[in-house]
Amino acid sequence: MNDTLAANSHVTHLVTSPISGAIGCEVRGVDLAQDMGADVFDQILAAWHEGLILLFRDQHLDELEQVRFGERFGTLAGVINQHNGRGTHPSVMYISNIRENGQLIGALPDGEMYFHSDQCYMEVPAMATMLYAMEIPSKGGDTVFANMYKAYETLPTELKTHLEGRLAVNVYDYESNGTMRGSQIKAGGKYFAHPVFRTHPVTGKKALYVNRLMTDHIEGLSKAESDETLNVLFDHAEQAAFHYAHQWRVGDLILWDNRCSQHARTDFDASERRKLRRITVLGEKPY
Ligand code: SIN
Repeated sequence: MNDTLAANSHVTHLVTSPISGAIGCEVRGVDLAQDMGADVFDQILAAWHEGLILLFRDQHLDELEQVRFGERFGTLAGVINQHNGRGTHPSVMYISNIRENGQLIGALPDGEMYFHSDQCYMEVPAMATMLYAMEIPSKGGDTVFANMYKAYETLPTELKTHLEGRLAVNVYDYESNGTMRGSQIKAGGKYFAHPVFRTHPVTGKKALYVNRLMTDHIEGLSKAESDETLNVLFDHAEQAAFHYAHQWRVGDLILWDNRCSQHARTDFDASERRKLRRITVLGEKPY
C-alpha cells in the first residue's frame, strides 16, 4: 500500500451526522488530500445522495488535491464565464473579493447572492459544486443551502399538476453583477430551458428546479402568469424550513448537489477578505 492510501486506510465506516433538520451532513475522519479506496468513496457518495450537501471540516487542500477529489465524482466542468479568478487548472475558479494590484483575484466578489443552481442555464449543468474555504470574514458571507426535494414535495397538488412537464428558461446574462437578478436579458447571453421539476437520476426523487437568480420565464404561460407563478415558486423554495446557513471556517469543504438543492450567499463587510476555491463537476441533461 502506498503512503497516500495509508492516510485514509484507518477509515472503514464513515462517521456522519446531520448538520440541520433541512439539509446537509457532516463527514468526519477523512483526509481529502489523500487518496481513498472505493469502499470509502462509495460511502461518501451514498452520504451525499442522502444529505444533498456534505461538509468536511479541517481540510488542507491545494488545487490539484481538490481537483483529484472532484474527479472522483465525474468529469470536471471548465470555468465557463469571463470572471476573474481562474486557477492554474482549467476547472478551478476562485470566489473572492480580494484585490491585488487593483485587480480582483476572484469571481462573484461582493455582497449578497440570490438563490440559484449552478450552470442551470447550460444544456448540461453542473451536477456537483465544491467550495473550499481559504479566507473567511469574521461575520456574514454565509452560504445558505435549500432542499429542493422538500420544496417540490410541499407544493400544492394543483400547482404540481399545472406545471408538470413544463420547461422554464434559465439565463445568465449578468456579467456586470453575477450575484443579483438583472432586469434585461443581454443579447448573446447563455440560456437553456429545463424542466420546472427535475428527476434526480440516482435517487429517482423529484426536485423543484427554478431559482430567483437565473430563471426568467416558464414556457407556454403568458408573461403575467409566468411572473406570478415564478414568484410563488421562488418564495416557496426560499422558506427557512428548507434551509441550512453555513458559517464558514477556514479548511471547510462543502460539496453540494445542484440537482436537488439551491444556494445563496448572505451579505458581508466588503472590507474583510473572503476567498474560496471552487470546482464543478458536470452532470446530465435534466429530465
Ligand atoms: C457560488 O454560488 O458559487 C458562491 C457562493 C458563495 O460565495 O458563498
